[in-house]
Amino acid sequence: MQVEVMGRIGEARAEDMKQKTVIVIDVLRATSTMITVLSRGCSGIIPVETLQEANEWHQDGDLLIGERFCRKIPGFDYGNSPLEFLQANLEGKRVIMTTTNGTRGIQKACNGEHVLAGSLLNGKACAQLAAGFGRDVVIICSGTQEDFSLEDGLCAGQIADELMASCGETNVSLNDFGIAMRNSFIQVKDNIEDALFQCWNGHRLNDLGFGADIRFCAQMNMTEIVPIMEGTMMVIHRRQPNPAF
Ligand code: MLT
Repeated sequence: MQVEVMGRIGEARAEDMKQKTVIVIDVLRATSTMITVLSRGCSGIIPVETLQEANEWHQDGDLLIGERFCRKIPGFDYGNSPLEFLQANLEGKRVIMTTTNGTRGIQKACNGEHVLAGSLLNGKACAQLAAGFGRDVVIICSGTQEDFSLEDGLCAGQIADELMASCGETNVSLNDFGIAMRNSFIQVKDNIEDALFQCWNGHRLNDLGFGADIRFCAQMNMTEIVPIMEGTMMVIHRRQPNPAF
């Protein structure tokens, strides 16, 4: 199995995704939030790039969620903090989501045969699901605008490491950037929360008062929930009947 880790959304070209499993990562915070939102019983999430698209998709009864500059968008129901959703009852609701980078990453991945959302919260489950699909894997780090974000790279390293554990190390061929991210992950995995706080995005979110989100997003493998694209909607891939939340 070939596993290619891409450090920025800009590296992702539609033709490189075909017949592959694509895993999109935005640890702080979009993919961590998607996992949490899906755990609350919503029927699915439609990830879109722009506010205009979000408003075009929106119908009565839907929820609008997302951020710009890390803050809730005026008029939206929720922002992009996973903690906002921990107690929310979203039963049966359709959710329209737009964030600066994470939902853009998902859109870029849409040519993949399978498109998954990964974060530290579900890294192991995500890798095991991807291994089961038996396709080559592309891991896209959403980053921030056109810049690489280390927390996404560390999660890519976590998923690469778990893919090797699932498939056998000699059966996985990882690109050089993926090897670097796996080695970085192995180095910091016992202090992953500290590593997130040290990242540029960790500083930024902490300064904005979202330190609790960082601590939440640092909980490795706390759920089996893996969001997967079905048509235009992201839903839970029901690998296990009981979500861990
Ligand atoms: C994004 O998609 O750009 C991020 O999740 C931003 C944020 O943390 O709110």
